[in-house]
Amino acid sequence: MLSTPLCLLFCFLCLKIAFSSSLHASSFSTTQLCSHEEAFALLQFKTSFSTNNTASDPERCNTYHTKPYSKTESWKEGVGCCSWDGVSCDNVTGHVIALDLSCSLLSGTFPSNSTLFLLKNLQSLNLSFNDFRLSKIPTEISQFTKLKHLDISCSQFSGQVPAEIAHLPKLVSLNLSNYLYSDSAELILETTTLRNLVQNLSEVRELVLYGVNMTSVNPRFFMNLSSSLTTLGLAESALRGNFPNSIFRFPNLKNFYLSGSFRERNLTIDLPSFNWSSPLQQLYLGGMDCGRGLPESIGDLKSLQYLSLSCNLEGSISTSLTKLTQLSVLDLSWNHFSGPIPAFIGNLSQLTSLGLFFNNLSGQIPSSVANLTQLRSLQLSLNHFSGPIPAFIGNLYKLTSLGLGYNILRGQIPSSLANLTQLSVLDLSENHFSGPIPAFIGNLYQLVSLLLSSNNLSGQILSSLANLTQLVVLRLSNNQFSGPIPFHATRFSTLSTLDLSYNLLNGTLPPWIFTLPLLEDLNLGHNQFQGLNS
Ligand SMILES: *[C@@H]1O[C@H](CO)[C@@H](O)[C@H](O)[C@H]1NC(C)=O
Ligand SMILES: *[C@@H]1O[C@H](CO)[C@@H](O)[C@H](O)[C@H]1NC(C)=O
Ligand SMILES: *[C@@H]1O[C@H](CO)[C@@H](O)[C@H](O)[C@H]1NC(C)=O
Ligand SMILES: *[C@@H]1O[C@H](CO)[C@@H](O)[C@H](O)[C@H]1NC(C)=O
Ligand SMILES: *[C@@H]1O[C@H](CO)[C@@H](O)[C@H](O)[C@H]1NC(C)=O
Ligand SMILES: *[C@@H]1O[C@H](CO)[C@@H](O)[C@H](O)[C@H]1NC(C)=O
Ligand SMILES: *[C@@H]1O[C@H](CO)[C@@H](O)[C@H](O)[C@H]1NC(C)=O
Ligand SMILES: *[C@@H]1O[C@H](CO)[C@@H](O)[C@H](O)[C@H]1NC(C)=O
Ligand SMILES: *[C@@H]1O[C@H](CO)[C@@H](O)[C@H](O)[C@H]1NC(C)=O
Ligand SMILES: *[C@@H]1O[C@H](CO)[C@@H](O)[C@H](O)[C@H]1NC(C)=O
Ligand SMILES: *[C@@H]1O[C@H](CO)[C@@H](O)[C@H](O)[C@H]1NC(C)=O
Ligand SMILES: *[C@@H]1O[C@H](CO)[C@@H](O)[C@H](O)[C@H]1NC(C)=O
Repeated sequence: MLSTPLCLLFCFLCLKIAFSSSLHASSFSTTQLCSHEEAFALLQFKTSFSTNNTASDPERCNTYHTKPYSKTESWKEGVGCCSWDGVSCDNVTGHVIALDLSCSLLSGTFPSNSTLFLLKNLQSLNLSFNDFRLSKIPTEISQFTKLKHLDISCSQFSGQVPAEIAHLPKLVSLNLSNYLYSDSAELILETTTLRNLVQNLSEVRELVLYGVNMTSVNPRFFMNLSSSLTTLGLAESALRGNFPNSIFRFPNLKNFYLSGSFRERNLTIDLPSFNWSSPLQQLYLGGMDCGRGLPESIGDLKSLQYLSLSCNLEGSISTSLTKLTQLSVLDLSWNHFSGPIPAFIGNLSQLTSLGLFFNNLSGQIPSSVANLTQLRSLQLSLNHFSGPIPAFIGNLYKLTSLGLGYNILRGQIPSSLANLTQLSVLDLSENHFSGPIPAFIGNLYQLVSLLLSSNNLSGQILSSLANLTQLVVLRLSNNQFSGPIPFHATRFSTLSTLDLSYNLLNGTLPPWIFTLPLLEDLNLGHNQFQGLNS
C-alpha cells in the first residue's frame, strides 16, 4: 500500500491546480460569429478523430475535477464557433485564441496536415488526456507562432519531440508530460532539441516534462533557462549525471521536481549548504542521490509548503526543518534517516501529510505528534519504532491513512483509534500487537484497506467487520484468531483481497466466501476449517 513518490506528487499538484485560476481567455460573446475559416478548421479537425470512451482516463481527469466527455460533439456549423465548448476567442478581433480539449475522448492519429494549424492566432492549446495513438508531435506545431501555453500531457504522443518545439518564441508554459514507466507511449527529448528549446524560449516560466525520456540530455543545459522560470518539472525523466545545484539560485523558481530512474539511480544533485535563494514552495527530489545528510540550510526555504526528498539521505532529521512553518506536506520516505522522530515535529502544525516510511528511525512515537491535528496521512511503516501506539493518536481525527506496518510496536490496538472515523487505510501489519480486534473497528466505515497481518492478535473475528462495506483489502493472516468466520451474509461487495491464512480459525466455510463478485485473491490456508486441508 505504498504509493510511489510520483503519485503523491501528482496528487498534490492536483490540489494546487484546483485552486489556481484558468489560464484561458474568457469566452467571446456568444452572439458573435467567428470567421468562416476558423470554424471550418475546427470542424475539419473534429472529423480527424473518433470519440472513444477509453481515450481519456476518467481517474486522471477526475483528479483535476474534469469529467471526460466529448467537447467537440456539440460543435455545429452555423453557430458561432466562439460559443463552442472548449473554444475561446479574442473579444476584439474575434479570432480563436484558446482551445481546451483536455479530457475530450479524442481518439485517432494526429494528422500532420491538420487544419488545426490554420488557427494562427492560437495562444493556448490544451490537448491533455486524449488518445492520439502514439502519433508523433507534428513538426507543423511551429506554425503556432503566437502560442503561449501548450499542454499535450498524457495524450499518447510518442517518439522524438521535434526540433520545431524550439520555434515557439512566445511560449510561457510547456507541458509534455507522459508517464514513462506506466504507459506505452514514450516521448524522447534529444539533447540538441533541449538545448535549442532552452536557448530560444526566453519567455518560458513553466516547463513540465514528467516522464519524458531525456537519457541523452546533459542536465547542465537546464541552467540556460530564463531566470523568470517559476516551475521546472523533470520527474521520471531518466536523466543521468550531476544536476547543477545552481538551480537553487534561480530567483523566481517556486516549484522544482526532479527524479531520475528509481532503478538506476544515476542522477545526483548536491544539496547546497548555503545560498538556497530561490523562493521555493514545492520541492521534490526522488530516485537519485543528493549527498549525505539534510543540510541545516534547508531551513532557509521559508516558503516551502511541499517537501519530498527521497535521495539516499542519512543521519538524523535536521532540526532546521522546524523553521519551515508553512509546510503542509513533509515526505522523507525512502532514505536512511536514523534516530528518533525529533520532538520539534510538533511545531509543524500545518502538516497534512507526514511520510517517513522506509528509513531506520527508532524509538517511540513522540507525544509532539499529537500537535499535528491537521494530518490526513501519517506513514511510519518500515522503520524500527517501538512501544505502544500512543493514546494521543485519537487527536489526529482527520487521518484518512495511517501506516505503522513493519515496526516493532506492541500492546493492544488502543481504543483512541475509534476517534479516527475518516480512516480509509489502516496498516498495523508486521508488528507485535496482541489482544483482540477491538469492536470499534467495525465503526470505521470508511475503511478500504485493513491490514493486521503478522501480529499476535487473537480472539474471534468480530462479526461487526461486516459493517465495513467499502473494504477492498482485508488481511488478518499470521495471527492467532480462532473460532469460525462469523459473518452470515455477505456485504463485502467490493472486496478483492481476503487473507485469513495462518490462524486457528475453524468451523465450516460459509459458501458466500466463494461468490464475492470482485474477489481476486483469497487465502484461507493453514487454519482448521472443516473439509479444507491445510
Ligand atoms: C477504443 O480504444 C480502445 C483502446 O485503444 C480500443 O481497444 C477500442 O477498439 C476503441 N474503440 C473504438 C470503438 O474505437
Ligand atoms: C477582454 O475580456 C477580458 C476578460 O473579461 C477583459 O479583461 C479585457 O479587458 C477584454 N479586452 C478588451 C479589449 O475588451
Ligand atoms: C489542461 O487541462 C487539464 C485538465 O483539465 C488541466 O488540469 C490543465 O491545467 C490544463 N492545462 C493548462 C496549461 O491550463
Ligand atoms: C491530410 O492528408 C491525408 C493523407 O495524407 C489526406 O487524406 C487528407 O485529405 C489531408 N487532409 C487535409 C485537411 O488536407
Ligand atoms: C529559434 O526560433 C526561431 C523561430 O522563432 C527559429 O527560426 C530558429 O531556428 C530557432 N532556433 C533554434 C536554435 O532552434
Ligand atoms: C502542465 O503544466 C502546466 C504548467 O505548469 C500546468 O499549468 C498544467 O496544469 C499541467 N497540466 C496537467 C494536466 O497537469
Ligand atoms: C530512454 O530511451 C533510450 C533510447 O533513447 C532507451 O535506451 C531507454 O531504455 C529509454 N529509457 C526508458 C526508461 O524508457
Ligand atoms: C549507472 O550507474 C551504475 C553504477 O551505479 C553504472 O555501473 C552504470 O554504468 C551507470 N549507467 C550509466 C548509463 O551511466
Ligand atoms: C504545538 O504547536 C504550537 C503552535 O501551533 C506550538 O506553539 C507548540 O510548541 C507545539 N507543541 C509541541 C509539543 O510541539
Ligand atoms: C477525538 O476527536 C475530537 C475532535 O473531533 C477531539 O476533540 C477529541 O479530543 C478526540 N478524542 C480522543 C480520545 O482523542
Ligand atoms: C454493525 O455490525 C453489528 C454486528 O454485526 C450489527 O449488529 C450492527 O447493526 C451493525 N451496524 C451497522 C450500522 O450496520
Ligand atoms: C473451534 O475452536 C474452538 C477453540 O478455539 C473450540 O472451542 C471449538 O469447539 C472449535 N469448533 C469446531 C467446530 O471445531
